[in-house]
Amino acid sequence: MTDAHRKILVLFAHPALQKSRVNRALIRGLDVMDGVTFHDLYERYPRLEIDVRHEQELLLQHDIVVLQHPFYWYSTPAILKEYQDLVLEHGWAYGREGRALRGKILLNALTAGGSEEVYCAQGRNRYTVRRLLAPIEQTASLCGMRYLAPFVVHGTHALDAAEIELHRRDYHRLLEALRDDRVDLDAAARATHVNADIDAIVRTHTH
Ligand SMILES: Cc1cc2nc3c(=O)[nH]c(=O)nc-3n(C[C@H](O)[C@H](O)[C@H](O)COP(=O)(O)O)c2cc1C
Repeated sequence: MTDAHRKILVLFAHPALQKSRVNRALIRGLDVMDGVTFHDLYERYPRLEIDVRHEQELLLQHDIVVLQHPFYWYSTPAILKEYQDLVLEHGWAYGREGRALRGKILLNALTAGGSEEVYCAQGRNRYTVRRLLAPIEQTASLCGMRYLAPFVVHGTHALDAAEIELHRRDYHRLLEALRDDRVDLDAAARATHVNADIDAIVRTHTH
């Protein structure tokens, strides 16, 4: 059994999982990964009626929070916005008394139809994915959380099964390394994508 230093909560949001190719592959095996709680928000709350106390309790029980989702309109699917609006209460997540999330790590793990080339200042989408996620990064900052560069799978429509499998391996490797405290957090926070140079960010062994 692995020595799990940190507990990871994967908040998964895909409103049409039956049509998913990439996220469906990325989540395969997460439910049995040691130290990981896999939480499918649309499955649990198909009508978006979020149980705030339960979600706050789950957040308290974990050290790392991963928001895994397809990129929808340069942002998250709706349930993750509803989740933020309801669960991150004043006096709990932020404000003078709100310290519940302090010191925890937040990571977006997302899939995007657009290629990496279109997500830059000169590209069609004008901004990097990380810049487009600024509201989430700033929310993390307000709550005293440490925000890492997102894990991004670009160009989803053009990926074949073998390429998707490589992304799944990188993603699982990253989660295991985060769990086991083998990630250079400063490098991961500075990057544009955490998976652009994953070998530089993930160490093979603890020291
Ligand atoms: C409602 C909707 C909005 C989307 N918005 C974007 C977007 O803003 N940027 C982008 O790159 N892809 C966008 N896409 C494409 C999805 O991100 C892509 O289909 C998804 O990540 C593929 O993952 P999956 O196989 O798990 O569904 C959008 C798709 C839908 C259905």
